[in-house]
Amino acid sequence: MTVTFFLVKKGSVIKTVTPNSGENEMVVTPWEVKGKVDYERLIREFGTQPLTEELLSKIVHYTGKLHLQLQRHLFFSHRDLDTVLNLYEQGTKFVLYTGRGPSGPVHIGHLVPWIFTLHLQEKFGTRLYFQMTDDEKFLIDDDASLTETRKYAYENALDLIALGFKPENTFIIYDVEDMDLLYDVTLEVAKRITYSTAKATFGFQDSTNIGWVFWPAIQAAPCFIHKKLTGENVPALIPAAIDQDPYWRVTRDIAQKLGYYKPAQIHCRFLPGLGVGGKMSASMPETSIFTMDPPELVKRKIWNAFTGGKGTAAEQRKTGADPAVCSIFQYYFYLFEEDDVKLVERERKCRAGEILCGECKNELAGRLNKFLEEHREKREKAKDVIEKFHVKR
Ligand code: TRP
Repeated sequence: MTVTFFLVKKGSVIKTVTPNSGENEMVVTPWEVKGKVDYERLIREFGTQPLTEELLSKIVHYTGKLHLQLQRHLFFSHRDLDTVLNLYEQGTKFVLYTGRGPSGPVHIGHLVPWIFTLHLQEKFGTRLYFQMTDDEKFLIDDDASLTETRKYAYENALDLIALGFKPENTFIIYDVEDMDLLYDVTLEVAKRITYSTAKATFGFQDSTNIGWVFWPAIQAAPCFIHKKLTGENVPALIPAAIDQDPYWRVTRDIAQKLGYYKPAQIHCRFLPGLGVGGKMSASMPETSIFTMDPPELVKRKIWNAFTGGKGTAAEQRKTGADPAVCSIFQYYFYLFEEDDVKLVERERKCRAGEILCGECKNELAGRLNKFLEEHREKREKAKDVIEKFHVKR
């Protein structure tokens, strides 16, 4: 098995390395996440910064309370977040930028960073630019059609809007439809990234189609679009999973040459799927919970989830189970148990064999289904307002 792993060393020299392959070897690229992800190693090898207590307390100064996703370290790493906060303190706002590759329906792993983005938007009073990369998914996936990726862009936007974003300060960019808006900025970016850098960063091969080779310039463009739209030059802060980092590395290298701030990032982990290890992934529907999954299906998926439980109830009551490896426990940890005391108690009971997996599963299915039911109602209403979110120029 060949394993490719992208990393940055000092400044802009970017290297691709292939570490010793092993069964559970980690792969983290914008297109593939596999194996057991070692986040400490990603910080070291991508050259990002850990989110320190000091930075977290700076954030709390503005947000009042640490968001669950920061508290539980779902967001764990950054680039230039300190710079952006310092500028903010001195009166220079920032804009938020994130996006989605619309290759299929949205699962709750996708919603997680968007929920955090909404929190930042509300607390800092900033704009959000949201890129729907219907072009990227078309280029990358051999079987995808533009009709299909554009349809998913619309469907996925409904999920985004359902979370509570407001049209006044949320601007969705659909790449194919809005390319006229992005094109001049994209060209400025593309002209300054060499093929050699792109190849080293993204691992392009001779067989890679040329659309894909050019494409990273399109993901860079929204970092800078605010100036074109408003005349204001402010930095962009990007909340996203860490697999997107290669894009920002090349973007950061050229930003100042074009007269912009380097885009800043705040990186999150991958929400695990319901199987053994790995992230929630649309390519493994049985271990992913999609927003449109009916309640019975959610129950079934949860019921089949991987836990740290024992072979029999009797054995588990006697020796306890292991929440550290349990996919169900992770959902309580990252999303569905905000109360620290209750979380610790659940963990204790699990280890002591006082609670069995069925109980945790049933309760989680209940909470998930309640969340999804409300989400779907708001998603339905989003159909009436979706146009208001479409970026104007
Ligand atoms: N490439 C991302 C994906 O495949 C989509 C995307 C575009 C994005 N711009 C972004 C994600 C900015 C995070 C932040 O999902």
